[in-house]
Amino acid sequence: MGKMTLAQKIGQMVQTERLSITPEEVKRWHIGAVLSGGGSCPGDNTVQDWVDMNDAYWAASMEEDDGHLAIPVIYGVDAVHGNSNVTQATVFPHNIGLGAARDPDLLEKVAQVTAREILATGVDWTFAPTLAVARNSHWGRTYESYSEDPQIVSSYSGRFVDGLQGNLGTDSVVSCVKHWLGDGGTTDGVDQGDTRLAEEELIRLHAEPYLPALEAGTLTVMVSFNSWMGEKCHGNKYLLTYLLKERLQFDGFIISDWDGIDYLSENYFEAVAMGVNAGIDMFMVSEHWQPFINHLTHHVTRGTVSMQRIDDAVRRILSVKVAFGLFDKPRPAERYWSNHASFGSQEHREVAREAVRKSLVLLKNESGLLPLAKKQRVLVAGKNAHNLGHQCGGFTIAWQGTSGNDFVIGGTSIWEGIQQLAPEAVLSHDGSGRDADPAQHDVAIVVIGETPYAEGMGDIRTGDDVIVQAGSQINGLLKVLEPYGNTMVLADLHPEDLETINTIAATGIPVVTVLISGRPLVANRELDASAAFVAAWLPGSEGQGIADVLFGDENFSGKLSFSWPENPENRKNVGDADYDPLFPYGFGLTY
Ligand code: GLC
Repeated sequence: MGKMTLAQKIGQMVQTERLSITPEEVKRWHIGAVLSGGGSCPGDNTVQDWVDMNDAYWAASMEEDDGHLAIPVIYGVDAVHGNSNVTQATVFPHNIGLGAARDPDLLEKVAQVTAREILATGVDWTFAPTLAVARNSHWGRTYESYSEDPQIVSSYSGRFVDGLQGNLGTDSVVSCVKHWLGDGGTTDGVDQGDTRLAEEELIRLHAEPYLPALEAGTLTVMVSFNSWMGEKCHGNKYLLTYLLKERLQFDGFIISDWDGIDYLSENYFEAVAMGVNAGIDMFMVSEHWQPFINHLTHHVTRGTVSMQRIDDAVRRILSVKVAFGLFDKPRPAERYWSNHASFGSQEHREVAREAVRKSLVLLKNESGLLPLAKKQRVLVAGKNAHNLGHQCGGFTIAWQGTSGNDFVIGGTSIWEGIQQLAPEAVLSHDGSGRDADPAQHDVAIVVIGETPYAEGMGDIRTGDDVIVQAGSQINGLLKVLEPYGNTMVLADLHPEDLETINTIAATGIPVVTVLISGRPLVANRELDASAAFVAAWLPGSEGQGIADVLFGDENFSGKLSFSWPENPENRKNVGDADYDPLFPYGFGLTY
């Protein structure tokens, strides 16, 4: 640090998006980190393209001359359920399904496999695990949460960090626990809204799950977009400096979320000082990194940001790079895991398949219809039966996820998994089930539910009043995106699903319904019309894990980690007074 100029120090505090910066600019402006936003993929999105990109950024950052110090750049991605931006990756169930598995050992294994598939692409750092405790399923990021119960999140957080970071050696990546603090607790589940809790409740519900992760030595923490009692976390010195850095003695670095400081003030110059002085160390600035550098330089020269604060931030950033061994690693193209043959391998996919099996929750099984016999004549229907994009959900290939079977390469759709076990199975020609015929079909499996979404675009917003209220309470700007829908009632959200179930059930064929969703939904009518009903969440690329259980090769073991509502007004969580869900937290039938 003694050798570093102010420009080189401030450069280290910047992470920008790959589309906004060239390797030459990384050197010229001494940039500390680069990232891929969801779906931002180099070239043809092959593993080699990723390695080549990272190799170019690293080489530029290490080209020492009299104006530039060789400090290796660090690259981050949202590998939140496998390295799921990349077409051939192993895509794991999203966290809501892993929460139902109640299996910390499995979580560590998932993290280890994910670390290897991140390293295969030359990437060092993942913005995971998400430690949100989602308390209102209207939130579009419910599926990124393991549970409404902080206990489950606590049982996973340290293990997942261990799986990613291990001994900070060749098999390790840098973890980033997120989003600090209270992302899952906003009023009405409004994404980036206001979390209104007394401090002890905020700590009990939302901070405690971070403790095992801090114990495990997570090297980075990401700040949350939400506010706490009207104050944005990105400008909150109490939460960032006092609570996390001083009281909890976190000694890694804090990174902002995507342009997170922009929402602190209409005046970006002011916002920069607010974010830095609150205790953020590195700033994820998607495009306008040059104004950021200019403003921060200006603040330091005029004294509205102290050199001591700059040095604290840079020391933390360099300490993480040293602890991670980044200074000692060869260039990405020459690292052990780069372009490794295990990427998307059968061995990795078996771990994901086990996770799928353990994530499934059996909510209904009338007269023991399940397990099915493999020789039965099965009709498979429903819009999500043969759609890898839909079964993976958001943050897969693209930020908002994809549809169809052309992008998640190497995966198995739910239909394909059934076909492998039940040779007599047929796929309804248009998914509608109108071809159901009791003379030809003994039983139907109907795969229904949500289509992919991410963040605010996954919110269920019953009216604009929730936004107006959030916006009026927040001291700063609220980013509002187009929501997914306006009701938690599945039959209103996706009427085509109930129609398919009813079409088939009307012929007398018993229906096994499999729900693909990022959250519990009010599904009373679909449940009544089904002989059996399975909550499958967002299982990822290994859809055959569902057939493994439906046909009895494995038993159900999943237990709800979220309460299942009986009506849209019911927003109670386990432990609340007057708790009266349709299916309680912990519910799950077995054979
Ligand atoms: C997004 C998300 C955050 C993610 C980041 C980078 O807005 O809030 O979870 O890691 O930006 O994609």
